[in-house]
Amino acid sequence: MGSKPSARRELERVEGKMDNLDSLSRDLRTEIERLDELFWVSGETLKAISKRFQEELDEGLQENGRNIAMYLTWVLGFPTGHERGAFLALDLGGTNIRVCWIELAERKGETKVMQSQYKIPDDLKTGSADQLWNFVAESLEKFTKEQGLNGSENEPLPLGFTFSYPAIQDYIDHGVLQTWTKGFDIDGVEGQDVAEQVQEAIAKRKLPIRLIALINDTTGALIASAYNDPDTIVGAIFGTGCNAAYMEQCSSIPKLKSHDQAKDLPSDTRMAINCEYGAFDNSHSILPRTPYDETVDEQSPRPGEQTFEKMSAGLYLGEIFRLILLELHSKGLIFPDQTNLSYLQSSYSIDTGVLSFVENDDSADMGDTKNRFRREFNITPSHSDLRAMKHIAITVAVRGARLCACGVAAICRKSGIQKGHVAADGSVANKHPKFRRRWGQALGEILDWKEDREDDPIVLTSAEDGSGIGAAVITAMTLERAEKGQMVGIRAGAQQKKVST
Ligand code: BGC
Repeated sequence: MGSKPSARRELERVEGKMDNLDSLSRDLRTEIERLDELFWVSGETLKAISKRFQEELDEGLQENGRNIAMYLTWVLGFPTGHERGAFLALDLGGTNIRVCWIELAERKGETKVMQSQYKIPDDLKTGSADQLWNFVAESLEKFTKEQGLNGSENEPLPLGFTFSYPAIQDYIDHGVLQTWTKGFDIDGVEGQDVAEQVQEAIAKRKLPIRLIALINDTTGALIASAYNDPDTIVGAIFGTGCNAAYMEQCSSIPKLKSHDQAKDLPSDTRMAINCEYGAFDNSHSILPRTPYDETVDEQSPRPGEQTFEKMSAGLYLGEIFRLILLELHSKGLIFPDQTNLSYLQSSYSIDTGVLSFVENDDSADMGDTKNRFRREFNITPSHSDLRAMKHIAITVAVRGARLCACGVAAICRKSGIQKGHVAADGSVANKHPKFRRRWGQALGEILDWKEDREDDPIVLTSAEDGSGIGAAVITAMTLERAEKGQMVGIRAGAQQKKVST
C-alpha cells in the first residue's frame, strides 16, 4: 500500500503543473501547504459526500421538514416545445429586479423578449416586506407603462414570478418563504405566502396583472432549457447561491400522498422538484468544513443554514479567500508592509469575480492583479504576495467546483440518470472559465467514468433564460392545464384566456 498522495500532487493531477512556489518564504510555503491539505477534497471523500447527499435527497421526498426540502413545484412534466402566448415574467434577483414581456413564438428563435432591470436599493435587502413588495409592484407598473402593455380586469396580464429562495408550495401560485438565503434579511416575509404578498401590492396599485406561477430559478432553468433541448436532465444554479431542480416520478414522491389533489394523478406523471440542496449537511456530519467556513457561517445573517451553499457558491468563495488573506497578513506572511487594509477588512469586499480574475491572471508578473488590488483595495501586493494569492484562489475555486459535482451526482444516481445535459446558470458557471472542466472531472471521479473516455456522458450546458423564458413557459403550461381542467396544483379560478401573440 502506497501512502496517501499529498494534496499538492492531487491538485496537480487535476489542474496540471502548478506554479513553482520555491521563491516564497519558507513560512509562507508551509502555510500554503497547510491550506492545500485543508481544502483538497479527494475523490474518495467526494463519493462519501455524494452518498450522504443521496440519502438526504431521499429523505426530503418522504416528508416535509427534512433538511434538504425537495419542494414540490406543481410543474408537471417537461414542456412540449409548442407552448405559446405572451407573458410577464418577474425575477427578484440578488442585485436587480428584472421584468420581461415574453412572446413565445411558433418558430424557435422567434421568441421575443422585452425587458428592463431595476436596481434594488441596498437598504431594501434588510428592510421590510412592505418596502420590498412596493418596490416590486412599482417596477411592474413602470415596465408595463413603458411597454404599453394593457391588461384589463377581465383579462389581466399573466405573470410568472421567479423567486429564488426556499418556499414551500401547496399550489403553483403559492409559496411560503422558509428562510432568506444569500444575505437577504427582510422582515415580515419568512413564514408568509410571497405570492399573496406580491399580488396584494399589485392590487394596491390597481395593476391588471395576475400571478399565475411562482417558480424557483432552478425550475426555470430546467424548463427553459428542456423547451429547446430534450436532453436536459437537471436545471442547476452555480451562482450567488447553489441549487438544482430535476423531474421526479410522482410515484417516487411519498410526501405527495398528503396532498388530496394529487391522488388521481396518472402513475407515470412527473413533477419538477426544487431540491434546495444548498442546505445539505446542515447537521455538519460529512462536509470537510474548515475554520474559514465556520467563520463565514457564524458571521452570516442565518448561521447554521445553507452549509453546502456556504462552501461552494459564488457569494461565499470570495469571502473565504478574503478571510485566508487576512489571516496570512495577521501572521506577517503577506502584505507585510501594508498598514491600511481597511478595504480588505470589510466583509464580502472580494467577490467571486475577483477570485476568478486572480487565478486566471496570465499577465506579466500578474501586473493586472497588482493594479486591480491597488485600485480597489488600496494594497500593492509584492511578487510573492501575488503568487501566493493565485495559488490560494485556485485551491478555493477547485474545492468549490468539486463539491458542486456532489449534488448533481447524487440526483443522477438516485434517478438512474446516466447521460444528458445539466443546464447551468449563475455567475460561477458562466464567469469562472475553469469551473466546467473541474466540475466534470469531479463528477467523473464520483460516478467512476473511465479515465480514457472520449466524451463525458453528463455535461454542463448553458441554461436558457430560466427566469424569463422559463417563467413564461411554466405560466403557459399552467394556463393550458387549467384550460383543460387538469387542476392538480392549480387553484380554481386560474383559468383565463392566454394573451395571444
Ligand atoms: C436559494 C435557492 C436558489 C439558489 C440559487 C439559494 O440560496 O435558496 O432557492 O435556487 O440560491 O439562486
